[in-house]
This record gives sequence, structure tokens and C-alpha cells, in this order.
Amino acid sequence: MDFNKVGKEAQEAINKCRDLSELEEISRRYLGRKGVVTSAFQKIAELSHQEKREQGRQLNQLRGKLEKEIEQKRQGLKDSFFQEKSERKIDISRPGKRFKAGHLHPLTQVVRRIEDIFQLMGFSVAEGPELETEYYNFDALNIPADHPARDIWDTFWVKGAKKGQKNLLRTHTSPNQVRYLEKNHPPLRIIVPGMCYRHEATDRTHGFQFMQVEGLMVDREVSLANFKAVVEKFCQMFFGPETEIRIIPDYFPFTEPSVEVSIRDKDGRWLEIMGAGLVHPNVFKSVGYRPYEWQGFAFGVGVERLAMIKYGLDDLRQFYQGDLRLIQQF
Ligand code: PHE
Repeated sequence: MDFNKVGKEAQEAINKCRDLSELEEISRRYLGRKGVVTSAFQKIAELSHQEKREQGRQLNQLRGKLEKEIEQKRQGLKDSFFQEKSERKIDISRPGKRFKAGHLHPLTQVVRRIEDIFQLMGFSVAEGPELETEYYNFDALNIPADHPARDIWDTFWVKGAKKGQKNLLRTHTSPNQVRYLEKNHPPLRIIVPGMCYRHEATDRTHGFQFMQVEGLMVDREVSLANFKAVVEKFCQMFFGPETEIRIIPDYFPFTEPSVEVSIRDKDGRWLEIMGAGLVHPNVFKSVGYRPYEWQGFAFGVGVERLAMIKYGLDDLRQFYQGDLRLIQQF
């Protein structure tokens, strides 16, 4: 065996080697149990005494040299690996990785905007249950059983806990007028956002599930003029300073007089956005107030309506389909 040649080959392989696994491969090839150098050791056993000494010395030298070279290379590769790694850690010039973050649903964004505007006008935000009792959804709002006014809202009835008790998915947020007046004393100004449900066939502008924001302001003297000022301010802050509103008569059992509010769109058409009116004396009675001591206005605004007008959408069902092509535009 030509020790010089083997030594040179090994040296070249070590020099060229670029990573640790390749280096271990080289180490195995020369110094492993069946490696070139190890087998050469086994072979010299058959040689004469003189040759054994001479070759043994050379082989030992070669093995020592390769062990040293490989160990040095190993150290070098390890160092540069860690160096590269730590350089990578602090390489602030690399472009950042954009991570995907979600955002609030457009309807939630609209509700938050509504809350912000009314809070600026001194209204607080309250909440109430989606599963209502017949009493709060109807009776306390001057809609007795068997009164035709109940037919205004088709209802999802749910069995109550007690026999004879009827619960329902609230058909509007108005029950919260009563709930709030029972627990708080006027003067007061609140809005109550929330999901409502009606048993109806859906179309572009009607869903069996939709959101409203209820409003209520009660004091010694509150008039429709106050209502008009508040709602006009709201519309102009929500849609823009040029927004025109129209108020015409309507009917609700729990307001007197009752009105409907519309805004004018860019094509000059009037679009209804809410029902409203002055709180009916019977509602005050049902919470134990003396009716003519207090006055108030109430309104219920459709959140999807506002969102559709603001964003130019023509089908409110799109808000509930979870289609990312729509959602991601907001
Ligand atoms: N609750 C009514 C509806 O759902 C709206 C409304 C609220 C009307 C408050 C008057 C006062 O249609």
C-alpha cells in the first residue's frame, strides 16, 4: 500500500468536505473498523519482522495524522455552522415573514362604530339575553297575547322551563328597554346591540337572524325634536356629513307617536334604516313609573341595513355565509 497516495487522497477528501455527515463518512472510510488504514494494519501481521516495524511505523503516522486532520476539520465545520446560525438570527436585512391575522367581521365593525358614535353623545352600552320571555318581548311592550300586533313579528317559540311558560328567540332588541328601566332610574341614555330572530323566509333584505341596535333616552322632557337631532347627528357621523334623513309616521305598539327613519342614497332613493318613536305610556306603566312624569324616545336600527348601505352590498345574507372573498374586503 502506498501510504503517501492514501494520505494525499484522504487529505483532499477532508479539504473538500463541506459538512459533518460527509466528514464522518470519510472518517469511516479510512479509520473505521473496515476502513483502509485499519485493514492495512491487519495485513502487516503477515509480513516479516523488519517490514512489520517499518510499515507499522508509517501506518501509525498516517493514522495519527488523519485523526488529527479529521478532528480539526470537525471542529471547523461545527464552528462555522454555529456562526452561520447566529448570523442568521441577527440578520435584520432579511425581509420579514408576513403572518396571517384575521380581523373583526364587518358587522362587528359596524356595531363598534355605532357604539363609538352614541358613546360620544353620552349613551352607555347595555346588553340583554337572546332567549327572551314572552313577557319582555311582548306583554311589557304593550303587545298583549291575542293582540293582532303580535303578528307583526313571526316568532321562534322555545319551550319554557316551567309548565305554560313560553320563551322565544327575541324578535327585536326592544325588550331591553323594559329590562333596563326596571333596574335603572332615569335620566338615562342607552343603546343595546344584539342578535334578533324572526321566523321568516329569507330574501335579499330579510334574514331569520339579524342584528339591531336599540336606543333609549328617558328624562323629564324628551321630544321627537331631541330624537331628530340625535339620529341626524348619528347618520351624518356614520354615513358622512351630507347625509339627509326623512322621518315619516309608522306604527309600533310600544311608541306613540311612532316613526320610520330613512336616509337618502346617492341615487336619491329613501332607504329605511330604523323604527322609532316616543316611549308609550303603557311601557312606563309596566315598569312601575308614573307615565306622565317621564318622557323618552326609543329606536331600533337594523345593523345589516346600515352595513349594506355603507358598503354598497345588495344582499344581507352575504354577511352570514362566511365567504372569505367578501369578508376579506373589510
Ligand atoms: N323594535 C322595533 C322593530 O323591531 C323597532 C323599534 C324600536 C320601534 C324602538 C320603535 C322603538 O321593528
